[in-house]
Amino acid sequence: MKYSRQSLRSHLLLLLSSPLPALALSTPTTIFTLPGPVAPASWFENLAVRPNGLILATRGDAPEIWQIDPATGQGALLVSVAGAFNLTGIAEVMPPHRHPKHRSCAAETYVFGSAHIPAPLQVEPASAKVWTLQFPTTTTTGIPSVSLLAAMPTAGFINGITAWSRGRVLLSDTEAEAVYLMDVATGSYSTPLTGLAGINGIKATTKPWLGYVYRADHASQTLSRIPVDDDAVATGPAEVLAAGQAIDDFTIVVDGDGAGKAYIGAMFENQVVEVGFGAAPSSGPGARRVVAENLSGTGTGLVTVVAFGRQAQDAGLFASIVRLDPSE
Ligand SMILES: *[C@@H]1O[C@H](CO)[C@@H](O)[C@H](O)[C@H]1NC(C)=O
Ligand SMILES: *[C@@H]1O[C@H](CO)[C@@H](O)[C@H](O)[C@H]1NC(C)=O
Repeated sequence: MKYSRQSLRSHLLLLLSSPLPALALSTPTTIFTLPGPVAPASWFENLAVRPNGLILATRGDAPEIWQIDPATGQGALLVSVAGAFNLTGIAEVMPPHRHPKHRSCAAETYVFGSAHIPAPLQVEPASAKVWTLQFPTTTTTGIPSVSLLAAMPTAGFINGITAWSRGRVLLSDTEAEAVYLMDVATGSYSTPLTGLAGINGIKATTKPWLGYVYRADHASQTLSRIPVDDDAVATGPAEVLAAGQAIDDFTIVVDGDGAGKAYIGAMFENQVVEVGFGAAPSSGPGARRVVAENLSGTGTGLVTVVAFGRQAQDAGLFASIVRLDPSE
């Protein structure tokens, strides 16, 4: 998210589930509200949905990952991260082995980021770190282990994270206006993309699909995609898929030709917005539609992230909302 003075006195976090109707506005259902004091604000920054359907949510106001069951609305602290202050993006890593035999015993692993954000808009220099969260291979219900993957003192603010090819992830750095490609086995990284002002959420498609990095720009309020090679280095100019759109994080569904839809957490618009786009390279911004509005239920709110459910009964979107005091 981009920190705003307005969110200084934000109150509660709602995690909402919203079915995806073809045309009508959807009515979101609250799954879970983070308990905690009214001030300072409690909020989730990012979400990842596990293969078993449980939601992992990183807290921006504490070094904690919570796990929430959308079926029951039960949520609890999963891990506290010693050595971190504020957590940022989170994404599942594609297992490093291709062979199905290995796939089945590869641990379910996530990468998440942290920063020290003493107050909104203040990121402590040299505080960026990247961590792994790994579930035990023998059980999906056990307590996962957390390890520091890389301290990144020369990075600025690691915001979005997304899977790249097997064993690698992309990290967006909002302050350095760059994207890093990190090897999850070693923590070493390259910087394939630079000059990306306003970069916030990030997603990617790799082989066997077309290689593209999709990225939000909260400054110019656009969603665009950049054609890239196997190491995420640009091979052509960016295409703008949505313009004039408030945007924080987002998720995408894309077919083999690059045609698809993005679902955007529209920040202070308090909405989730769907944007369609054509096969690559497409011919400019696609059709836009508000999927759900007034997500906070109070008229004002900040939508930080949108994620798809992964179980049949969750055939919709999850969104994380910071409820703002309407009087502000
Ligand atoms: C960052 O986390 C610390 C606790 O680790 C908390 O005191 C602070 O309020 C958080 N910053 C924001 C902007 O939520
Ligand atoms: C938002 O939703 C709440 C709860 O349904 C409703 O009372 C309120 O009038 C709505 N506000 C706006 C601005 O739509």
